[in-house]
Amino acid sequence: MKNFQQFIGSFSFDQRLAEVDIEGSIAHVQMLIKTKIIPASDGKKIIAGLNSILKDLSKGWTLPMEEDIHFAIEKELIRRIGAIGGKMHTARSRNDQVATDLRLYIRKEILTIFDMLNAFQKVLVQKAEKNIDVIMPGYTHLQPAQPIIASHHLLAYAWMIQRDKERIIDCLKRVNVMPLGSAALAGTSFKIDRNYTAKLLEFFRPCENSLDGVSDRDFCAEFIFDLSLISVHLSKLAEEIITWSSVEFNFIHIDDMFTSGSSIMPQKRNPDTAEVIRGKAGRVFGDLTAMLTIMKGLPIAYNRDLQEDKPPVFDATDTVKLCLEVITDIMASLEFKKGRTLKSTEKGFLQATEIADYLARKNIPFRTAHGIVQKIVHYCIDNNKTLDKLSIEEYKKFSKEIESDLYKFIDVKNIVNAKTSYGGTSKKSILKQISDLKKLVRVK
Ligand code: ARG
Repeated sequence: MKNFQQFIGSFSFDQRLAEVDIEGSIAHVQMLIKTKIIPASDGKKIIAGLNSILKDLSKGWTLPMEEDIHFAIEKELIRRIGAIGGKMHTARSRNDQVATDLRLYIRKEILTIFDMLNAFQKVLVQKAEKNIDVIMPGYTHLQPAQPIIASHHLLAYAWMIQRDKERIIDCLKRVNVMPLGSAALAGTSFKIDRNYTAKLLEFFRPCENSLDGVSDRDFCAEFIFDLSLISVHLSKLAEEIITWSSVEFNFIHIDDMFTSGSSIMPQKRNPDTAEVIRGKAGRVFGDLTAMLTIMKGLPIAYNRDLQEDKPPVFDATDTVKLCLEVITDIMASLEFKKGRTLKSTEKGFLQATEIADYLARKNIPFRTAHGIVQKIVHYCIDNNKTLDKLSIEEYKKFSKEIESDLYKFIDVKNIVNAKTSYGGTSKKSILKQISDLKKLVRVK
């Protein structure tokens, strides 16, 4: 190995912390001025120097390479304003500095991801509203179970996303606590004012223990866990998109731009975008595993292993943001094939539970009713018939309680709309969900 300095450094991956690093340094210097730890005239020069670096960075200029972004900014500052720039690091260590930077970074990303989740949720609610008359088979074990309204299925995802929004905002409670002022590990003998710095940086409060402050990366693991759960949800939906757009299901159409052909099979229209979303979930889980493994077994306080926190945090953030963008576009383009989904409800004896319920209402114990309907279904299979096409005479062979009003109960439209229990699939329940969700979309 020729370059150990580069090996132990993080400059290749921590440059995206430049802005938050400067933001943190400016607040730190303001505090040093206020507490008279450094003269105001020096502090002002430092702040002006930092702002000039910030300005150049915003124009696309890049810092010369150093061991890490913190050293790179300090060296550049000293280059620009002279040795006085070295006063910036009074009463601070890179240990509390980097922990603060990462919290500032994640805090920003949380707010961005919240907005993206919100935009996605909005599309789901709009789609649900549009497809309120689409009836499709609902599945358990991927076997036809009972008919449902397509919107109900979409709204299940809208509620998952609601939890994701709440979870990621809740994460802020632990992210938005300031380690700055913990110094290397023990605090400092300078009379710093940590509450003042926390206020300037809009942290809820300074952390209570300097050892914990510099070594805590729980917030990284928690953040990536939240991203992992978002990935689970997106992956599940991607899987449904893949299944529903297969020739066998043929329930939906997604825009051509989300599919691709095959280099050999001319007829192919593969849902690659959805497949990549499903695949990316594995990558995010990998980031979570990496993060937890880095933390495990570290003695308190800062250890250089902690530098490896950044690649998984950044990768999980980038991946989830990208996937959210794509899935939102896919869902906005999605169209249900109403005729096809309705036709599919004819297969799989979806009315079976309804017939059992019908008998149970006539005072037959549900378990007995269940057995009767099982026999009816077997009769249908043997005679290649469907439940709605059996004559009343055929039904009567299985139970005298069955009258011709049964047909009304087993009409798929009536079946779904009878599911009026709170949270059920009836149109009424869906309209309530839509109105409840509309209130939640956009609320932080
Ligand atoms: N580049 C380091 C990191 O990302 C900064 C802190 C280094 N501190 C130290 N004492 N070596 O974690």
